[in-house]
Amino acid sequence: MLNSKIIGLLNDQINKELYSAYLYLDMSNYFEHKGLCGFANWYYIQAQEERDHAMLIYKYLHNNDVKVSLLPIAKPDKTFNNDLSVLEEALRHEEYVTALIHKIYAETELCNDYRTREFISWFVTEQDEEETNARDMINKLELFGTDGCGLYLLNKELAKREYEAPKGVNIE
Ligand code: FEO
Repeated sequence: MLNSKIIGLLNDQINKELYSAYLYLDMSNYFEHKGLCGFANWYYIQAQEERDHAMLIYKYLHNNDVKVSLLPIAKPDKTFNNDLSVLEEALRHEEYVTALIHKIYAETELCNDYRTREFISWFVTEQDEEETNARDMINKLELFGTDGCGLYLLNKELAKREYEAPKGVNIE
């Protein structure tokens, strides 16, 4: 039986991950409309990954006999003034999600909930990768996206990203 505080945090995290999916879809939407289809592809896949994150937590709660409360998903509320601002918002958002994940991890320690600690440690590692990817995108755009030719090539590279289900975990 999971502790009620842990259940509440995990339940909220499902909503935050689904909001993340919605936010990344809005970023994809921004780039699709601009004709930068490679960038749009990258963020579209990112949205799929966020949906997976939500489903992992959803499954974990059900596997522990907890019924999930599905909450309203907020409207994406970020303003994108230019291409770089989209990438910067993505990094800020991932830093925010990292803080949420760390809060859950800390709570599992307080509750001696070793099972959830093991489960959430996958997300701790994942957040490291998410922040690295977000910073990498900013670096690439700053280095290569300042002229038309560089932006064209970068867009082409980002078009190659393919969806992969989360490694080492089962979302079936
Ligand atoms: Fe689910 Fe991008 O963190």
